Amino acid sequence: MCGIVGYIGHRPAADVLLRGLQRLEYRGYDSAGIAVMNGTLAVHKKKGKVQDLAHLLENVQVDGSLGIGHTRWATHGFPSDVNAHPHANPSGDFALVHNGIIENYAALREKLVAEGRTFQSQTDTEVLVHLIDRLWDGGAISLEEAVRQALQLVVGTYGIAVVSAHDPDLLIAARKGSPLILGVGEGEYFIGSDAAPLVEYTRQVVFLNDGEMVVVRRSGYEVRTIDNVVLNKEVHELEWDLEQIEKGGYEHFMLKEIMEQPVSLENCMRGRVQPAENTLKLGGLIHEMDRLRAARRIVIAACGTSWHAGLVGEYLIESLARIPVEVEYASEFRYRNPILGEGDVVLVISQSGETADTLAAVREAKQRKVPVYGICNVVGSTIARETDAGVYLHAGPEIGVASTKAFTAQVTVLAMLALKLAEGRTISQAEMAHYLQALAAIPDKVRAVLETCDQPIRQIAQVYRYASNFLYLGRGYNFPVALEGALKLKEISYIHAEGYPAAEMKHGPIALIDQFMPVVFIAMKDSTYDKVVSNIEEVVARKGSVIAITDTDNGELDKLCEYVIRIPATEEFLSPLLTVVPLQLLSYHIAVMRGCNVDQPRNLAKSVTVE
Ligand code: G6P
Repeated sequence: MCGIVGYIGHRPAADVLLRGLQRLEYRGYDSAGIAVMNGTLAVHKKKGKVQDLAHLLENVQVDGSLGIGHTRWATHGFPSDVNAHPHANPSGDFALVHNGIIENYAALREKLVAEGRTFQSQTDTEVLVHLIDRLWDGGAISLEEAVRQALQLVVGTYGIAVVSAHDPDLLIAARKGSPLILGVGEGEYFIGSDAAPLVEYTRQVVFLNDGEMVVVRRSGYEVRTIDNVVLNKEVHELEWDLEQIEKGGYEHFMLKEIMEQPVSLENCMRGRVQPAENTLKLGGLIHEMDRLRAARRIVIAACGTSWHAGLVGEYLIESLARIPVEVEYASEFRYRNPILGEGDVVLVISQSGETADTLAAVREAKQRKVPVYGICNVVGSTIARETDAGVYLHAGPEIGVASTKAFTAQVTVLAMLALKLAEGRTISQAEMAHYLQALAAIPDKVRAVLETCDQPIRQIAQVYRYASNFLYLGRGYNFPVALEGALKLKEISYIHAEGYPAAEMKHGPIALIDQFMPVVFIAMKDSTYDKVVSNIEEVVARKGSVIAITDTDNGELDKLCEYVIRIPATEEFLSPLLTVVPLQLLSYHIAVMRGCNVDQPRNLAKSVTVE
């Protein structure tokens, strides 16, 4: 949700900023811009993708080794050149980029207009520029002091970076509610909304916390709170390297990430699932297990795909460990005065660890003095840091806006957690041994799905690519997978799709079935198989066209369905890890065939840092 980059050092800043924006583009892509300092501030910005900005810059010389850049996901003000960031003050003394929302912008704007100030854009950000300008007052106080004081006047969220036209050795950044990190190089420093723009230069980073501001010069940096308390911040070493954040020969990040799943799942289980010793370790929650096992209720909160993983988690934890679970949309949780008390535990799931709604759920739980644990992918992310304890996915960076490998890693972590909670209580040692073997076998089975299903799924995509609607049906553990399959299709191909519990179809969606309605059934040979086959019969009787995902070879489905995709068998509770993969591929191929921008679907952003 908007990407910010900043640079101060000895390299040509425009190059560093443009490359950085390309790496951050998944956070927003409706306009982009840079401001580079070289005696004066050169601001270049343009509606459209970072590539459009790059074209614009091909014909201009932008010298200077200090600058800031931004790629936008519009909140206030439609995408346009004028609304693009950076925003400079009226006399061009400084420029600013902003990620987040200034919630009191309307009142502030009214006041500033009454004072005679004119606004160029429709953005909330420009209010902050005018506030700083008013406080700075042509140099009455230092720019850093003006920024600090202005931040105390705004309500809302921000990650900002500021450069001055009067100081070639000053880069200011601050955050509240929107992520920001400082990359520490040799005589050079980088600012990024996340690590993606930095890793090609340095792996040493400082994570800024809410309410913190950094003033960077080539000789060093100083972090303060916006209340002016100097802080001594730890420098961390990043885990991710450059290769992991590049496409590695694939046409799209999404495809790369789908194909990476055997490896990301191996990484997720490494050192945790040890069938040979019959042990399962979840280091991050080791001291919390007693509390979790004794929980009266586990409340899972998440958004989007992570919410779907949470639903699988509900089935897993309830059936294996017999602990009651409730799954909440993080965005609803906070606003409905949730009942949380003694014995309740909150578990949040977030790939990015930055989703504003999920973070709000963490804070809500903490305020109510309930233990809150996190399942995150991004190490050092805000949610990872604000939760009491948690488990990392170790799935590697996920760049494609449509989440794929994070989902399977989240389900894997939840399966491990459910087994850990069940260990010694609701499952025997022998069962544990059997389940750990089954878990350890998953990466190879995913490999097999990818190898055998990709081609047939391309053919299916070819046939159905012009459909206007799709229905996805599954039961039990595969009901959330049906939701996830439908979400994937909606997100990247813009085809309307609905996921439903297969048996619920007769209570409504069956009215939609005709020869134009493709219906994807997940029909694994498990405890729900016979019932699902009956549901398939019901669809076929109404001329619906059925695509089935199954692990059985019994011929029954071939007679009924238009297409049958066969995947390996596994334990019922692990089947979402396999059944979701053909659905990811189906949405991917359909979107590509429809000419959609798979990695940057319209209106979406990878990390939604506004509520
Ligand atoms: C956005 C993304 C989704 C993602 C959701 C939750 O909507 O487009 O792909 O599932 O946020 O993100 P999180 O990082 O919290 O898992």
